[in-house]
Amino acid sequence: MKAIVMTGTGSREVLEYVERPDPTPAPGEALVEVAYAGVNFMDIGVREGMAWNEVPDPKILGVEGAGRVLTLGEGVQGISTGQRVAWVYAPGSYAERIAIPATSLVPIPDAIDDRVAASVMMQGLTASHFATDFYPVQPGDTAFVHAAAGGVGLLLTQIIKLRGGHVIGRVSSEAKAPAAKGAGTDHVIVDTDGGFVEEALRLTDGEGVDVVYDGSGPSTFQGSLDVLRRSGTFCWYGPVLGGPGPIDIMSLPKSIKIGYAVFQDHIATPALLRAHTERLFDWITEGKLEVRSISDYRLADASNAHADMESRKTVGKLLLVP
Ligand SMILES: NC(=O)c1ccc[n+]([C@@H]2O[C@H](COP(=O)([O-])OP(=O)(O)OC[C@H]3O[C@@H](n4cnc5c(N)ncnc54)[C@H](OP(=O)(O)O)[C@@H]3O)[C@@H](O)[C@H]2O)c1
Repeated sequence: MKAIVMTGTGSREVLEYVERPDPTPAPGEALVEVAYAGVNFMDIGVREGMAWNEVPDPKILGVEGAGRVLTLGEGVQGISTGQRVAWVYAPGSYAERIAIPATSLVPIPDAIDDRVAASVMMQGLTASHFATDFYPVQPGDTAFVHAAAGGVGLLLTQIIKLRGGHVIGRVSSEAKAPAAKGAGTDHVIVDTDGGFVEEALRLTDGEGVDVVYDGSGPSTFQGSLDVLRRSGTFCWYGPVLGGPGPIDIMSLPKSIKIGYAVFQDHIATPALLRAHTERLFDWITEGKLEVRSISDYRLADASNAHADMESRKTVGKLLLVP
């Protein structure tokens, strides 16, 4: 099979499109033909050596996708050959085939195609975690969403609106504003140098917002603190773009609550993975949630997908097609 392997850590040059032996499913695993593999910021982090350093090179990148079960290892229950499935944390997804523990697979309903399913496993479950678990948005809440036209931002905005919240979204260019607006953002702020604080405070009559969702690196951190109202919640989530460094707890203002939200905590057991994915699929089937922008790249062009994501020009989800 063809796969994208890493021959070291660093820039996009460490990615190679090569022939690899098909994986063999171990007991409890399924061999899946990959229809679409998701591209995520964490893949860039892995490529740069922030994670998976314990896995020897060459290793196959990617953790997310959708496809069809080809064969089953011993003892697999609840999944059958030929079934369409999706997954979110399965290292080795940038490939034509992958062996995955059956407990990490979620059946895809007939009404949802593989392309949409692959697009919501990481970013949809992440957005679901943020708006329903980490800070369950209440009707009338005002939320501030950074990177509102990104893969997480477009889905997070829709889930906040679904729960009756208002959204102030920040994007880095005018070109991204229509995408954020289209997902339901009530006020779009185009900003890259911290001007979002003044604008968000103006929009909330100086009160600030109930919750801020920030995965945009250290440059937005102080501003995100500043846009919060008293007892507001700071949902920080961007390890790849970088953290704020050590924080003196007594410097934190206005009795705010702050934490690092991690999507794995939303799907910590196979039952939670299935329940939360089924809820996402239900929202999509019922027309309440839409994957509003998907860009397809050939598997061989994974390096270009990374380049585009790093360039900060992309909107929505990026997928690789083997
Ligand atoms: N904690 C978790 O569980 C979790 C789960 C998934 C993703 N994440 C994190 O969420 C962030 C977004 O990841 P994603 O894969 O889902 O992509 P994404 O939502 O599509 O986010 C990409 C967006 O990030 C913004 N951005 C800000 N600074 C950037 C920079 N220096 N370079 C490139 N983009 C920058 C850009 O929006 P603007 O140009 O409009 O600012 C870009 O459109 C990453 O930090 C990732 O590590 C965390």
